[in-house]
Amino acid sequence: MQTHEIRERFLNHFVKQGHTEVPSASLILDDPNLLFVNAGMVPFKPYFLGEQTPSSSRATSIQKCVRTLDIEEVGITTRHNTFFQMAGNFSFGDYFKREVIRFAWDLLTNPVAEGGFGMDPDRLWPTVYRTDDEAARIWHEDIGVPEERIQRRGGEDNYWDMGVPGPGGPCSEIFYDRGPEYGVDGGPAADENRFIEIWNLVFMQDIRGDKSPKEGFEPVGELPQKNIDTGMGIERVACILQGVENVYETDLLAPVIQVAEHVTGSVYGRVENSVEDVRFRVIADHSRTALMLILDGVTPGNEGRGYILRRLLRRIIRSARLLGATGATMEKFMDTVRSTMTPSYPEITENWERIRAVAVGEETAFLKTLESGTRLFEDAAAKVKATGGTELGGDAAFVLHDTHGFPIDLTIEMASEAGLTVDKDGFDTRMAEQRARAKADSRAKKQVHADVSVYRSFVDNHPTVFLGYDTTDAEAHILGLVSGGQLVDRAPEGSEVEVILDRTPFYAESGGQMADRGTLTGPGGLAQVLDVQKTGRKVSLHRVNVTGGELAVGDTVAAHVDHAWRHAARQAHSGTHLIHAALRDVLGPTAVQAGSMNKPGYLRFDFTYGTQLTSDQLRRIQDISNEAVDTDYTVNTIETSLDEAKAMGAMALFGENYGSRVRVVEIGGPFSMELCGGIHVDHSSQVGPVTILGESSVGSGTRRIEAYTGMDSMRYLAGQNAVAGSLASRLKVTSEDLPERFAQISERLQAAEKRINQFRTAELTARVGDYVMQAVTVDGVRVVAARVADGIAGGDLRTIANDAKARFGSDEAVVVFASADPESGKVPFIAAVTDAAVARGLSAGEVVKAIGPLVGGRGGGKPSMAQGSGSDVSGIDAAVAAVRPHVESALSGAR
Ligand code: ALA
Repeated sequence: MQTHEIRERFLNHFVKQGHTEVPSASLILDDPNLLFVNAGMVPFKPYFLGEQTPSSSRATSIQKCVRTLDIEEVGITTRHNTFFQMAGNFSFGDYFKREVIRFAWDLLTNPVAEGGFGMDPDRLWPTVYRTDDEAARIWHEDIGVPEERIQRRGGEDNYWDMGVPGPGGPCSEIFYDRGPEYGVDGGPAADENRFIEIWNLVFMQDIRGDKSPKEGFEPVGELPQKNIDTGMGIERVACILQGVENVYETDLLAPVIQVAEHVTGSVYGRVENSVEDVRFRVIADHSRTALMLILDGVTPGNEGRGYILRRLLRRIIRSARLLGATGATMEKFMDTVRSTMTPSYPEITENWERIRAVAVGEETAFLKTLESGTRLFEDAAAKVKATGGTELGGDAAFVLHDTHGFPIDLTIEMASEAGLTVDKDGFDTRMAEQRARAKADSRAKKQVHADVSVYRSFVDNHPTVFLGYDTTDAEAHILGLVSGGQLVDRAPEGSEVEVILDRTPFYAESGGQMADRGTLTGPGGLAQVLDVQKTGRKVSLHRVNVTGGELAVGDTVAAHVDHAWRHAARQAHSGTHLIHAALRDVLGPTAVQAGSMNKPGYLRFDFTYGTQLTSDQLRRIQDISNEAVDTDYTVNTIETSLDEAKAMGAMALFGENYGSRVRVVEIGGPFSMELCGGIHVDHSSQVGPVTILGESSVGSGTRRIEAYTGMDSMRYLAGQNAVAGSLASRLKVTSEDLPERFAQISERLQAAEKRINQFRTAELTARVGDYVMQAVTVDGVRVVAARVADGIAGGDLRTIANDAKARFGSDEAVVVFASADPESGKVPFIAAVTDAAVARGLSAGEVVKAIGPLVGGRGGGKPSMAQGSGSDVSGIDAAVAAVRPHVESALSGAR
């Protein structure tokens, strides 16, 4: 049974039982506790906690999940995958244990002809939580599973929570017996390789606190109602139904391994569980995960999600090399994953170009440095071993990271393959130093205090009411003041603190828009707002500097956003949307937003695109944006559901949750429609002129456009105009004629330089005769050694040296010329030796080697002609004078 059929059967089974089918959420839901969605219940968390009411009390989904805690384990065991699909059914205060057990059992054991999976009931073993008599009774009495096949286990196995405070509950797991050839009898308690877990039924009823009931701690509360959360591993069920050993042999991953065999020339499974096999499995697992992450908008980077993606991609590349691949392989792997995953995820098709570009871009960048980095690693490792050490230094690891792009984990892995450890502390120190250097910038200051517990009660009880869409001035109350991570009652003059208000007109930085600036004025003092950041997505932290008097908790303050700031900020944000729309108009849908930043008057927009933009494309993007300004479109904001927004054609941002209300910003109807929480102008003409400053690359496959809006645009254009005006008046032409005039001047300059060179060479050639005449004879060899005029480049030196040599014909002769370049301070020099002199044992290469050090340089070449360059002009005369003694000693040595 193919995987996508397993998916369909699952969903059909639960839809028939009254469940609403919910599409998988993005892998990057914006939950501060989670890097990636790692369980089917994550998008439904607010329903379990009672924070939101679902439109239906029964839901079913197949959720994309990524778990990356143990990347190194991937491939070593065949049970762990970084990407997997969790099929789940959920009850929000609707059915409970009895029903969920029946639903699961029926789907697993119903005949295939009736929509089930047709599993043999005798092979299924349920487990229940130690004290859960109720579940055990249902399994035995309702379902008919013999008592000896129902095992009771402790919290570690049969209690489930998210690993953080929140919903949780005891669970009952269903295991499948793969048969005695896989291990010993005795059920899952005895052997989890033979008995593999396929489904976890969680009776979600508790709230766990800091400590988990998994470790025996009591839950801290009860959920408002009893719920069900289940997770069935699609990949594991596929193994069983396809009769294969492990997930790498299923229809999802086997084709990737085959392609990897093809491109590397190695064979999978030659020796079971060999390092080669592990590498094949790394390629298969990581290729799929990488593709799914890129699909959901992750791009390779050095932190957080981007780092994980980078690490996955680089591990693929390295594994392929180690298996014998020599060139680029990424596209083939991605293409194979595309064909295995598209039946379940048809959206891959429309995103394919982008996915390909991101993955291949990373490969191209990494291949450039992989070899040099590997060489460096091997040298460093060899040195460590030669001195009897076992640890690679932090400096080496840092250089590998910094100049060769080796993620530290890759270095650690390579070291461990070579039997070494890595001085991770030393590496971290070097990284920290580098970061400290790079971070005199504002970002560090912006980071909300790392320990968020002081904000906890505000997040839970006092979400900040945002008034800024409608106003820039409001009265508000100070609910809290935080100084150095501690709650304080008052903030005196001169202090810098975070202010928590009940309501605010200040926009907190998000969606690329910088935070508002302005003032808070209380009964006892005044503060400048320097920045505003959100914590827990709900509470705005106003970072302020108290410039007079003091602020105190309980104060009523006048919160005032600087009007000029806000005006220019709106212009820049709407300008960003105009450029985005224009860009897709010009470049097509493969140009996908990868990030953006806007602050008053300025914006930058990053997007994935394979090649540099032409100046014509840039001009069209600018024109289309300005035409939209000129058209004076009305800007509308609409609050709606995610589904409706998508149906309207709004460009969806990543990380939106199912069921969440979203805000659509529309400029001129279909012209631009985006999900966005930012602040915008009311009419497009208010954006003012949009001026694109340029376009550049910001790493693999990602490009950046920068632009000015509003008055900043005007000032920039005026500045450009002034420059053009002053040039035009100096050249005595109109500004329009500047380009042509400039072209003329540069042409004339080139022609003049060419003529000067011709004259100089002619003059030099004329002087060759003089040099030849001045030759001295050393033991029958004619020796010419001269400092020629300054500024003769290596090429010209060669011409005249050849010329002089030719004039000596069949005589024995040595010619040496040197020149000084007054601009660069370099000293090019050359030696030429006739054939007859070479026959006497003389060599131009030796001459150059002998005199090079005198001008602080080196050189080399053949016996008949050799060249070099030095950097010490003051040594030229000594170098020239050294030629004769060198010839003398060479001749006497040759005798
Ligand atoms: N949330 C449960 C799990 O992830 C079903 O196992």
